Amino acid sequence: MRLALLGAAVVAGAAGYSVYAYYHSPYWNRVGLAPAQPVLFSHRHHAGELRIDCRFCHATVETSADAGMPSTQTCLTCHSQLFRDAPMLAPVQASAEENTPLLWSRVATLPDHVHFNHSAHVSHGIACASCHGDVADMALTAKAHPLTMRDCLACHRDPEPQRVTADEVFARAPRSAGATMATLVPVHARPLTNCSTCHH
Ligand code: HEC
Ligand code: HEC
Ligand code: HEC
Ligand code: HEC
Ligand code: HEC
Repeated sequence: MRLALLGAAVVAGAAGYSVYAYYHSPYWNRVGLAPAQPVLFSHRHHAGELRIDCRFCHATVETSADAGMPSTQTCLTCHSQLFRDAPMLAPVQASAEENTPLLWSRVATLPDHVHFNHSAHVSHGIACASCHGDVADMALTAKAHPLTMRDCLACHRDPEPQRVTADEVFARAPRSAGATMATLVPVHARPLTNCSTCHH
């Protein structure tokens, strides 16, 4: 009987642990998995090799909560001439002709009960790379970090060592982290770990 009870406890513990491990695993959080997209758009080509600024396509990232997504017209500033008839770009041309937006699959998302604000982070020296990884090296865009509450809190407890200078916010591998705090706008004095910072 004791053996059976012990056995049951071990099995329950193992099952509980697998659920826990799966929930925190990169697979559950979709880290490294690129979703299917209507066009095989490559950040590595556009942001990496061609060095197009993030803000050319994500125009509101410094000024509002949403980073913003490029319209078909933004793609056509180049592709109305360049590779106009390439099969890979057919969905872009169709979107322009039919006046229907391209429906990109989301990569980084939060549940509705969580508030997030890009401009608050970007204007306080938090680099895109801290949360999204080295996007300019991604052929297909995938999540680099789980973006769970744990991730957010790990920084909110002590953001100073992670802050970079303004000119490095868009850098692929910022090097100024923690070294130049005196030159930055101070983080507003309030506990960033209060539940109401992110949930209200
Ligand atoms: C500033 C100019 C520019 C803009 C804006 C631009 N592209 Fe491109 N795109 C290029 C160039 C140049 C290439 C060729 C890259 C190469 O082959 O070296 C290219 C290549 C491509 C290709 C072919 C596959 C590849 O990566 O080589 C696709 C698909 C593509 N672009 C989609 C898009 C989409 C979708 C948008 C809008 C979100 C867009 N592009 C915006 C310049 C641009
Ligand atoms: C030429 C336009 C263009 C440029 C430049 C560009 N992006 Fe994008 N970005 C896109 C498009 C189109 C998508 C949607 C397709 C995809 O996810 O790859 C996207 C998606 C993303 C996503 C995923 C959003 C989500 O949750 O679905 C992130 C993060 C991102 N971009 C970050 C960046 C960063 C950081 C830079 C600068 C290093 C950058 N982008 C430069 C066009 C661009
Ligand atoms: C502190 C973490 C963090 C930083 C820094 C950050 N992002 Fe994001 N980003 C997120 C999260 C979280 C989401 C998902 C938001 C949601 O679903 O409400 C997101 C979503 C996006 C999207 C999808 C569109 C949108 O607004 O939801 C794009 C594009 C993007 N980020 C680009 C960028 C760029 C470019 C930078 C740097 C200038 C950047 N991000 C900096 C965490 C961050
Ligand atoms: C690498 C560091 C870092 C990470 C990761 C991070 N944050 Fe922040 N966050 C900050 C800093 C610094 C501030 C303070 C900006 C200020 O002083 O206004 C901030 C402020 C905020 C604010 C307040 C915005 C406002 O308008 O006052 C919210 C909401 C927020 N973060 C949500 C999130 C969420 C949700 C996540 C996880 C998906 C996250 N943050 C991840 C550094 C980070
Ligand atoms: C810095 C931002 C941030 C702060 C501060 C924060 N949360 Fe969260 N919270 C998140 C994010 C992001 C998620 C969604 C991702 C996840 O489930 O990990 C989340 C999810 C949750 C969930 C849902 C969990 C689930 O499994 O669906 C609960 C409940 C929650 N938070 C409670 C709290 C409480 C209570 C506090 C204060 C002690 C708090 N949060 C503080 C960012 C935050």
